[in-house]
Amino acid sequence: MPDPAPSAAPFDRADLRAAFGRFATGVTVVTTCTKAGAPAGFTANSFTSVSLDPPLLLVCIGTTSRNLALFRDGEGFAVNILAADQTDLAGRFASRGDRDRFAEVPWQAGLTGSPLLEGCAAVFDCTRHEVVAAGDHLILVGRITALRRSPRPGLIFADGRYTRPAADPALRAGAILHRAGKVLLLAGRDGGYRLPLSAPQDSTGAAIAALETDLAGAGPARVAWDSPYAIFDSADGLTRNFFFHGELAAGSDLPEGAVMVAPEALPTLAVADPGARAMLRRYAEEIGARRFGLYVDTAGPHGAVLPLTVPRSAPFQPEDIVQ
Ligand SMILES: Cc1cc2nc3c(=O)[nH]c(=O)nc-3n(C[C@H](O)[C@H](O)[C@H](O)COP(=O)(O)O)c2cc1C
Repeated sequence: MPDPAPSAAPFDRADLRAAFGRFATGVTVVTTCTKAGAPAGFTANSFTSVSLDPPLLLVCIGTTSRNLALFRDGEGFAVNILAADQTDLAGRFASRGDRDRFAEVPWQAGLTGSPLLEGCAAVFDCTRHEVVAAGDHLILVGRITALRRSPRPGLIFADGRYTRPAADPALRAGAILHRAGKVLLLAGRDGGYRLPLSAPQDSTGAAIAALETDLAGAGPARVAWDSPYAIFDSADGLTRNFFFHGELAAGSDLPEGAVMVAPEALPTLAVADPGARAMLRRYAEEIGARRFGLYVDTAGPHGAVLPLTVPRSAPFQPEDIVQ
């Protein structure tokens, strides 16, 4: 169905605001100070970068703001780009009451005295370059005299709500390794057992290298990889796990505390991680027919096991997986 025809002006105020809100922005606290050096500031999402040479930015201030004259006539102002964990500052600097917005907020004065707030994603200290009247706002154009940026992700404001940038899940590589019909399990911290699994990494290659470290003792060269076995996200969405199936070469050293377990004992083994328990139960069923599937998460509550048709003569190399 085609989109409806756009509504013509004049607009319902709430409609206009909601349509503006479809544009996701960062959130800033714009600050300046009085001649006596008292700090002032307000929350603004109307920030826009303007020019690289000269370095210019803009922010819009409502003409009803109690701080209008300070920003319009002041020597300069600072734009503090809030970090994802600074929603409290966003609320505090937009509050209507007479509360001191700067109470217990650590800051230092910039070139013209504007407060530069601590813990922000970035900070721009500006001198006033130009002020342009635009409807019920003034456009404050600032010339950037100093900047500071941090690796902290910025806070996001969209559709009237604060969110944080979605982080890519960290990657963990794990293994189900068999030898002479038995499966390798490592000693878990809780006195039970666990499957070999890398610490979280930010690339597939790093995860596989870390898995090989977890297997140290068996040694990476002593594993013939067969096929991927499971791909699933942790319940909190912060890590993505790739498990591979492979054969441990005869005579490989086992990592310390490792045991080789017969398939029929796998379903009742003390394994703390529910994902690993599910894989071991499935493995115990599949080993009889030597037909293994690939578990993948699906949109629903239960994932799916896809049949694999990788011939045994073409061993799968985990390094082949491209992120
Ligand atoms: C997320 C968010 C973004 C805002 N953006 C702006 C803005 O760009 N310009 C503005 O004048 N007010 C903006 N406001 C409103 C001001 O923060 C608020 O009205 C102002 O601080 C009122 O206090 P004042 O009269 O002391 O300035 C925003 C508020 C929020 C919560």
